[in-house]
Amino acid sequence: MQEKLRIAIQAKGRLNEGSLKLIEEAGIKLVIGRRNLVSPAMNFPVEVLYLRDDDIPQTVACGAADAGIVGENEVLERRENVTIVKRLGFSKCRLSLAIPKQVDYPGISWFTGKKIATSYPQILASWLKEKGITSEIHVINGSVEISPGIGLSDAIFDIVSSGSTLVSNRLKEVEVVVASEAVLVAHPAISEIQRAVLEEFIFRLESVQRAEGKKYILLNAPNEKIPDITAILPGMKSPTVMPLAESGWSSVHSVISEDDFWEVIGRLKKAGAEGILVVPIEKMIF
Ligand code: PRP
Ligand code: ZN
Repeated sequence: MQEKLRIAIQAKGRLNEGSLKLIEEAGIKLVIGRRNLVSPAMNFPVEVLYLRDDDIPQTVACGAADAGIVGENEVLERRENVTIVKRLGFSKCRLSLAIPKQVDYPGISWFTGKKIATSYPQILASWLKEKGITSEIHVINGSVEISPGIGLSDAIFDIVSSGSTLVSNRLKEVEVVVASEAVLVAHPAISEIQRAVLEEFIFRLESVQRAEGKKYILLNAPNEKIPDITAILPGMKSPTVMPLAESGWSSVHSVISEDDFWEVIGRLKKAGAEGILVVPIEKMIF
């Protein structure tokens, strides 16, 4: 029985770097560089397979890989039998319709009878159907953005991330059809051992993700101020309070989020906190 978990990732392109970063953050050390088709891991029962993103859903569905890191856009388009086990929050983009910049756009009825170039015909066809619009879908597998400029189509339906590809091809985004991000997919029938490996991988990813945007805070305060200060700092369970060598004083430790960081610091100072230290958190394990 196959005990290693074979994870397919994109060989090159927008997802490659983020996928390798996740694997690294999960503490998995790959034996060789990305030039190889397969990299075993030194310290974890995982093997990484490098593929074209378009091929990842099918490879996972047929079991040639047990799991994969791929754009949700490819999962939606390919309609293969894979399970999304975790949304990964990176490589965020959208699939949008775009038309030449100078063309007036009255609304989606504009697309009636128009020729739309795309690499995502399934997603586009079902969206058009839902909206009751009949267009001509022209499937091309690369450089979709140049097709209106060379007279191949009236519009395009493609991935938009920063939007710079649209700008440099004198196109404008007129309809956002679906949002996408990197997702972790798995074959629906992996072995129990492989499932345990996958769960450990997810557990590690979640520990890293939880720590993102969080800081560890340490401060000193006179004992009579501690109730006010701990009320400002909820922490994971409740803040840690420890006596200092100097009598009548305590040290308070807690976790705060970056979103309201400065506001919390301001309130802590007002409440009597001194010697505030803020340090980064690498992982948070519950
Ligand atoms: C997509 C898309 C555009 C570009 C848009 O290609 O086809 O070319 O990204 O990104 P931007 O809005 O940041 O300019 P991608 O690099 O994903 O390659 P692929 O579709 O061939 O896999
Ligand atoms: Zn691709």
